[in-house]
Formats: sequence, C-alpha cells, structure tokens
Amino acid sequence: VRNLFLVRHGETLFNQEDRIGGDSDLTGKGREQANALAEHFATVRIPIIFTSNYKRTLQTATPIAERQHPCSIIALPEFNEIYAGQCEGMTYEEVRQQMPDVAKERGRNKYSYVYPDGEGYMTMEERVLRGLKKVFFLNNYSENIMIVGHRAVNRVILSCFLSRQEEEIPYIYMPQDRYYHIQIDPHKRIFELIAYRS
Ligand code: F6P
Repeated sequence: VRNLFLVRHGETLFNQEDRIGGDSDLTGKGREQANALAEHFATVRIPIIFTSNYKRTLQTATPIAERQHPCSIIALPEFNEIYAGQCEGMTYEEVRQQMPDVAKERGRNKYSYVYPDGEGYMTMEERVLRGLKKVFFLNNYSENIMIVGHRAVNRVILSCFLSRQEEEIPYIYMPQDRYYHIQIDPHKRIFELIAYRS
C-alpha cells in the first residue's frame, strides 16, 4: 500500500440533527458528496474500499466502487462508529440537558471518557487497530486503498500514522467535504487534507 485515502461518510439525517450514533441513511447532500467523491476518484485506481457495517459508509462507498473496474467493498465491524451506549440517538444538546454529568465528564477528558454502557476513544482503539491490521492483510498488494469511516473512528485511524498526544485525538479535524490522503513511506510522512467539492 502506498496511498491510504481516509474518507468520512457523507451527511446523514442524524448529522443534520446533530444526533449521536445510530444507523441513518445519507441525505440528498450526503448522496451528492458520495457522487462527488466517485467523480474525484474516477481516475485513481482503487481496487478495494473498506467500510464499517453502517449504512452511511456503505452508501458513500457504493458510487465510488461503481466508477471503478472492478472494486470490492469490504465492511469491517471494527470500523463501526464509537458506540455511545445510553446516549445513542440523542442530540448533543439533549445530553447536556438530560445527562449533564456525561457532558461534563466527557468534556473534561474526551479521550479516556467511556459512555455509560458504551465505548470511549481509548476503549475503541484496540478494535480499530484490529481493523487496520485486516486492511493491510486483505489489501492484496494494492497501491491504493480507501477506508470510508466515521468521525471518531477516522480520528483513531489517522492517529496511528501521526504522532499525537492522546488527548488531542478526539479533536482532530474530520470534515465531510474533505478526505485525508496518507502516503505510506517509511522515510517520510505525508498527510494531505484534500477538498473534493467546493
Ligand atoms: O457524526 C456523528 C458522530 O459520528 C457520532 O455518531 C459520534 O458519536 C461522533 O460523531 C463522534 O464525534 P465526537 O467524539 O466529537 O462526539
């Protein structure tokens, strides 16, 4: 693998409502973003796209794969988004109102905080690393691979290639209209954040 394209899924209904977790579909804008990605990568050979098991990553990967000949999508549960336990489906505002201790504690140390009955960045790291190992095992000597993941998962993936303070990981910029291009070279580290639509 020379190039890892780390993409976050397109906009969902839950994103519009600022809701945590769930398994919602892409919105019209999210589908446009997926089509724009497909167009952007049409001239780059990507034989395999890894996603999570959630609809939003699969719906983002599908148009990209359709523009490639051939391309397989491999869904890995290891790349599922951080599981927010009792807070799944709530908005960030609802958490602040109804579970103020959760909001406060998470704000105090977002990296080590674990949602009630759910996960945290720290507890999620092991499974995401397991997913990355699978990616490198299954990539079939491809030059380019793509992962379509989620905000928290992609932060953890990126942090495996960057040397970052743990406390900074949950704040890495992970927008939906750009992707990270990580060049895998033992002698230099190159990370580019690339916009695929204006
Ligand atoms: O885009 C929403 C989302 O993926 C949630 O499902 C997830 O809980 C959140 O982002 C992770 O971001 P943060 O850790 O900043 O709340």
